[in-house]
Amino acid sequence: MEEQVSGWKGIVLAGGAGSRLYPSTAATCKQLLPVYDKPMIYYPISILMLGGISEILVISTPRDLPLLRDLLGDGSRVGVEFSYAEQPNPGGIAEAFLVGENFIGGSPTCLILGDNLFYGDMRFIRRALAKKTGGTIFGYAVQDPARYGVVEFDEAGKALSIEEKPKAPKSNFAVPGFYCYDNRVVEIAKELEPSDRGELEITDVNRKYLEKGELQVEVLSRGTAWLDMGTPRSLLDASNFVASIESRQGLKIGCLEEVAFRSGFISRKQLAALGEEVKGSEYGAYLLSLAEESS
Ligand code: DAU
Repeated sequence: MEEQVSGWKGIVLAGGAGSRLYPSTAATCKQLLPVYDKPMIYYPISILMLGGISEILVISTPRDLPLLRDLLGDGSRVGVEFSYAEQPNPGGIAEAFLVGENFIGGSPTCLILGDNLFYGDMRFIRRALAKKTGGTIFGYAVQDPARYGVVEFDEAGKALSIEEKPKAPKSNFAVPGFYCYDNRVVEIAKELEPSDRGELEITDVNRKYLEKGELQVEVLSRGTAWLDMGTPRSLLDASNFVASIESRQGLKIGCLEEVAFRSGFISRKQLAALGEEVKGSEYGAYLLSLAEESS
């Protein structure tokens, strides 16, 4: 059983118009679309839970929040606490800290984007949460950095600059949508000015921490996969990725009940009961098989 990380709160940002996925998002939200065998939002939530975080705020649009609430409930089934808050308009990723101010209270906070998937060596999560002050973000080598926030390093591996979707990227290291900050992030977010595209930019939050000399940027190893799922092609790629790994290993990626069990949020008996409820499905059979595994 993993040791619980105390004090951290988690936010999943699951709003936006999903316009790049139209018409699949005409009547539902992107984060509810299936990525192989489960809804997209399971993957980022599982990352927070793997970090031992049990207080999780889900932010989405007024239209989609009730749908997400129907799916996830209050979290007690998987031993965590889900709360919900509306972001009426897509005012930027950093707006999550304003929408979530009451939820955050005096705690350090992790933010994860609802369309980001991580798989593989996950020790980076616990390393980030072990740090009590400043911010921790990540760098990940990609072929098309201009689509992302891009971090530039000096020869010693220290972060020099961060730019949002630069036309001429200074490196091939994109910043994935998983960010960990101390409690000052709320005040920092309050001081931000909207960018040219009218959004409170997460890249500006990161720049503020960088200017203070309090931003740690950890390069994720090649053994960690990071995918985003915001376009038809990347959604298919993510589904194929999950399907390949799951059918090879017979183990699921992003299965909230399994993560809850392995992280000590629920007991074996509770896991078995969850499997029983949906035993007609392949997912339910998987939960039952986990509950029967020798400990
Ligand atoms: O995926 C990582 C990238 O995410 C970072 O490298 C960039 O620095 C960061 O700006 C962001 O870039 P995107 O172009 O992917 O951001 P996008 O506007 O697509 O928003 C990402 C997700 O967050 C998307 O699923 C919708 C949600 N979102 C976005 C905004 C701006 C919200 O829920 N509310 C918002 O106001």
